[in-house]
Amino acid sequence: MTSAPKSNAVQPIIWLGDRLRLLDQRLLPLEETYLDCRSAAEVAEAIHGMAVRGAPAIGIAAAYGLVLAVRGDLKAFEAAEQVLAASRPTAVNLRWALARLRGLWQRGADAAALELEARRIHEEDLAQNLHMGELGAALLPQHARVITHCNTGALATGGHGTALGVIRTAYAQGKIGQVYNTETRPWLQGARLTAWELMREGIPAKLIADGAAAHLMRIERIDWVIVGADRIATNGDTANKIGTYMLAVAARRHGAKFMVVAPSGTFDLDCPNGEAIPIEERIATELTEFRGQQIAPGGMQAFNPVFDVTPAELIDAIVCERGVIANPTVDKITALLR
Ligand code: MRU
Repeated sequence: MTSAPKSNAVQPIIWLGDRLRLLDQRLLPLEETYLDCRSAAEVAEAIHGMAVRGAPAIGIAAAYGLVLAVRGDLKAFEAAEQVLAASRPTAVNLRWALARLRGLWQRGADAAALELEARRIHEEDLAQNLHMGELGAALLPQHARVITHCNTGALATGGHGTALGVIRTAYAQGKIGQVYNTETRPWLQGARLTAWELMREGIPAKLIADGAAAHLMRIERIDWVIVGADRIATNGDTANKIGTYMLAVAARRHGAKFMVVAPSGTFDLDCPNGEAIPIEERIATELTEFRGQQIAPGGMQAFNPVFDVTPAELIDAIVCERGVIANPTVDKITALLR
C-alpha cells in the first residue's frame, strides 16, 4: 500500500537557493500566500510570528535560515544560530536541526556543505513521516475512530505529517472510520489547517471544539487519540500543543488509547522529565482578541501557555521512525535512541 504524498501535496517550505519560500500559515485556509525570507532574521521572525509552525517544520526552516546567513560569510554562523534558536522555545527540533549544522560547521564545512545538510534534514523528515505513518497505522483497528489535535500534517513537517501522517496512511489503507479534529484554540491550527488538509484528501472528518472532546469520548467509541509532539523527555513525558494533556486524561478515563507520533529529532535526552521542558507563553492578546478585534473586556489579564506536558504514564504508544515504544519508560526510550 503506498502512502507517498500525492502530486497536489502541500508544499509549505520551498528552498530556492537564495531565499526560503514559506506558505504563510496565518492566512490559511482563506488565502494561499507565500512569504520569501532572505536572511536568518527574516526566517526567525517567520517562525516567531507563526507563518511557519509545527515542530519539524520550524526545525527545517531554521536550518535553511542558517544557510542564508552563511552564504555570504561563514563567520555569521553563531549570531544567526542564536537569533534562530531564540525564535520559539519549546519545540526541540529547532535546536536539534541547528545542532546538526553546527557539528558540520565546527568541522570546517563550507556554505555548500551546510546547504546540503539543510536539504537532507528536509528530505529525511518526509521519509521518516512516511515510515511512522506505516508504523502508527498498524496499531489502528479497522474503521478506526480517532481524535487528533492541533496541526501535525504536511504543513507542520517536511511532508505527510506525524500524527496526521498516521491518519493519512491509515486512510489510504481503508482503516479510517471517522476523524474528529479539535479546533485548537487560540491559533485554531485544527480548524484552519488540519481541516484544510483533511478536506483536500477527502478524509471523513468532523471539527469539534476543544472542550467537546471528553463529551465525545463519553457518548461515542473513540479508539485512539493521535497527537504529535514538540519535545519528548527521556522518561517519555511529552510536550505538545496546549490541550493535549486534557485529551490524554479524558482518553484514559474513557478507554481510548493515546498515541504520540514524533521523529527522533523531537526527543531531548537532556531533559530527564517534563518538568525540564520550557513551556512557551505568548502574549495575552492571542486570547483577548480575535483577528485584531477585542473580545474580552478591556484590561483583562490572561495566562497563555501554548504547550502542556502529558505524563508518560498516560501515553500508550510513542511512534518514532526507529520503532514503536509501547508504555514508554526511560529504558525503552534510551534503548531506541542510542
Ligand atoms: O504552536 P504550533 O502550531 O507550532 O504547535 C504545533 C504543535 O503543537 C504540533 O502538535 C507539534 O509541533 C507536532 S507537529 C508535527
